[in-house]
Amino acid sequence: MPKLKSKWVCQQCGFQSPAFLGRCTDCGSWNSLVEEIIRETAPNGRPGERLAAQRAEKQGAINGSSGPVALKDVKKEDYERFSLGLSSVDEVLGGGIVPGSVVLLAGDPGIGKSTLLLQIAKSLEAKRSLLYVSAEESAAQVGLRASRLGIAGDQLYIDTQQDVLLVCEHIQAKLPGLIIIDSIQAVYHPDIGSAPGSVSQVRQAAEEIINCARLNNIAAVIVGHINKEGVIAGPKVLEHMVDVVLQFEGDKSRQFRILRALKNRFGSTSEIALFSMNETGLNEVNQAGAFFLGDHLSKVNNGEQLGAGTAIVAYNEGNQALFLEVQALVGPTVYSSPRRVANGWDYNRLLQIIAVLEKKIGLSLARHDVYVNVVGGLDFNNPAGDLGVSTAITTSFYEKSVPANLFMVGEIGLTGEIRPVAGLAKILKEASRLGFKQAVIPTSNLKESAGENINLSASKLEINGVESLQEALNKIIVEQQTGTPKQSEKQGALYG
Ligand SMILES: Nc1ncnc2c1ncn2[C@@H]1O[C@H](COP(=O)(O)OP(=O)(O)OP(=O)(O)O)[C@@H](O)[C@H]1O
Ligand SMILES: [Mg+2]
Repeated sequence: MPKLKSKWVCQQCGFQSPAFLGRCTDCGSWNSLVEEIIRETAPNGRPGERLAAQRAEKQGAINGSSGPVALKDVKKEDYERFSLGLSSVDEVLGGGIVPGSVVLLAGDPGIGKSTLLLQIAKSLEAKRSLLYVSAEESAAQVGLRASRLGIAGDQLYIDTQQDVLLVCEHIQAKLPGLIIIDSIQAVYHPDIGSAPGSVSQVRQAAEEIINCARLNNIAAVIVGHINKEGVIAGPKVLEHMVDVVLQFEGDKSRQFRILRALKNRFGSTSEIALFSMNETGLNEVNQAGAFFLGDHLSKVNNGEQLGAGTAIVAYNEGNQALFLEVQALVGPTVYSSPRRVANGWDYNRLLQIIAVLEKKIGLSLARHDVYVNVVGGLDFNNPAGDLGVSTAITTSFYEKSVPANLFMVGEIGLTGEIRPVAGLAKILKEASRLGFKQAVIPTSNLKESAGENINLSASKLEINGVESLQEALNKIIVEQQTGTPKQSEKQGALYG
């Protein structure tokens, strides 16, 4: 049996070496070289050569010549954005997809990438034809999902071809309105020896598809897998090659999914789209603010009290103000060193908050276990939640409760100061809409220098600006129990 030839390829930059290296000599990253087997290359000249000839011809046709063109002569009318039919996805893309552009849709296995794309196909099929290249699943499997999602599929063509050159030929023959490649790791370029999904294959296959989409002025969406480190599998250059990188994320055990743009050549990266997943597919969540509060919203509107160790926090996720319930459980430890557990919250941030609570508030947590949980399964690692986490820990410690219609926003500094957060005006607007009555926010956000015009008189909320953690906890916990106490009473109620 002939000996298999192999090469070592850097997963970060694509550098190739004939032998293993601990550190890439090109980009300097450590442990990034992965072995790839070199197969006998396919005979050159079949679809590859035909494509190259067609491409040269097309390039000439687009520009009138293959040389440079004056900017004023560049045709812009062919590049009008079009809607994908799901308004929140359009917003994430910056107002629709641009013809000729390539979007990389990355996400964990099983998160719902194929489902999202089929739903886009469903909402588009009346307007334009689609070519869905299903390199991972058979046509029957796609058909099964399509029938579950209620897609008729008159204008939807399924192509199970994995050879990227043949895929490009099919695109040129059909000239669809949108191309979907599911996934880039499953297609291969016949002239590259390594296995599908390897760095060289992913890069080469992506390059073919990008060229094909640009030359034919067709928008393409490419699905990309995420590897176990949580980054898009394949070379980093893939992210540079495409126009838009979208990340589809969520907790697979819950029904919510978030779509966000990590890179966008045609729009901002601050918008998100929120979906809930059920048997009929993904449903857009339009007024997402209270999505993670669930039934808790009724408590907000009824003016009920929250249980001890619970606080409601708000923050901006992209362009959307979201409200979350943070819970803490504080109790005497039975271990030699107390336990600190953070679910959905950054562990180091929890340690920092505990340190500030001990030093500035005098909470003695050294012999207490502290568990913090963000309800709803969202990974909420935003400093705007610091004040809420501190409140939940303190109310659990003292067995106090706060009203459900009060929420808090604020980052806590190491000296116990409450630091400003971005986009507070949007949070306050959403809070009034949801029926909150009181807000505790950083005083510095109310100053003009914060750059936001928070209109206190127009707000239906009672807004309390706070400068320090101590002042904030007095406002949130003590004054809620006893009305507005004198300074001495405050100390007694909270710290006595
Ligand atoms: N009958 C069903 N009812 C409810 N949800 C379903 C049903 N069938 C599939 N799903 C959901 O769809 C998800 C799989 O969706 P999909 O195949 O689109 O994911 P994907 O990201 O394309 O996965 P892969 O990485 O394997 O290609 C499942 O995790 C499940 O949550
Ligand atoms: Mg899939």
